[in-house]
Amino acid sequence: MSKEGIVKLIRPELVKFTGYVASKSPEEVAATARFPINGVIKLDANENPYGCSPKVMEALSKYDSFSVYPDSGQRELRKLLQGYTGVSAEHIVASGGSDQMIGLITQLFVGPGDEVINCPPTFDMFRFAVELCNGRVVEVPRDENYYVDVAAVKKAITKKTKLIFLANPNNPTGTPTPQTDILELLDTGVPVLADEAYVEFSGETVTPLVKEYKNLMVLRTFSKWAGLASFRIGYGIFPPEIANYILNIKMPYSVSAASQIAVRESLKDRDFLMERVKKIVAEKDRLFEELKKIEWLEPFPSKANFIFCQVLNGTAKQIYEGLMDRSIIIRYAETNLLKDFIRISAGKPEHTDILIKAIREIEAERA
Ligand SMILES: Cc1ncc(COP(=O)(O)O)c(C=O)c1O
Repeated sequence: MSKEGIVKLIRPELVKFTGYVASKSPEEVAATARFPINGVIKLDANENPYGCSPKVMEALSKYDSFSVYPDSGQRELRKLLQGYTGVSAEHIVASGGSDQMIGLITQLFVGPGDEVINCPPTFDMFRFAVELCNGRVVEVPRDENYYVDVAAVKKAITKKTKLIFLANPNNPTGTPTPQTDILELLDTGVPVLADEAYVEFSGETVTPLVKEYKNLMVLRTFSKWAGLASFRIGYGIFPPEIANYILNIKMPYSVSAASQIAVRESLKDRDFLMERVKKIVAEKDRLFEELKKIEWLEPFPSKANFIFCQVLNGTAKQIYEGLMDRSIIIRYAETNLLKDFIRISAGKPEHTDILIKAIREIEAERA
């Protein structure tokens, strides 16, 4: 069959689909760096610079049943999460990363031509999931301080609206959404996904409300606070009716036994991990102060583990590339909305020092 023949068979809306731009791997960056330093400093994906709990490695090395499929009903895992979240297991379903749960929720509600309200700038996975289902993303931009424009979201609701996506705090801006705003949106009756990937850093959650609101879904992950990004383990908290539908449509073994062990051990070591979270939050605050000292940067306050920053002299791309030359990766997207902004994850204190020095060097090179 000719190449064109295959293209003819692919769903037409996916032939020109642009996908999702993922963060760069350290190997990719190290290969192109001009000034190699001691290892790549990865500040582009809001990962945990301290890694995971040592208990995870210990438990994995002792596990002897990797040849057996994991429990598709996630019974032990959901019970553990019940203890952690404070809502009963019937509300909880785990997934291979919270990304996967965004996909499942979208598949459950969105068919061709259905509308989903999204508040950019925000996590691009929302758009990605909707477009994969051939739904229509209705964009309601955030206000000048990156808060959700609740009145405009309500105005954008039509008979075709199936979901409202809210990242709280938002990625890339770090902005929180006050609970009163979420309640106002829940009162519209449209299903609302509150993505709380950074809740351990922000301390603000609407989880208890899933017992009361039949249209609220909350999303969480172990990627950030527990340092388990490569395990791919996230979970949703739902009204039981929605949880059952999600259990029905998920792939049976989407959460590996290794991930389930990693969750169990992380929760045992919760105090230790939360001490690290405190350190990261303190470093995020210091990063904000350090960036504020640079006249041509305008950092925004953040409730997450990263700082969103406007580059006022139009050199965001040069800063990104100059840092990459020095093996420091930050997040930059060359889109209309984001081309004058950068997002920097909080690392260890020495990472902040090296980053700020590098930004000053790039500034001097330009002068
Ligand atoms: C708002 C938000 N939701 C979800 C995710 C995905 O996390 P996971 O690693 O659990 O797929 C991210 C990751 O950056 C995020 O920023």
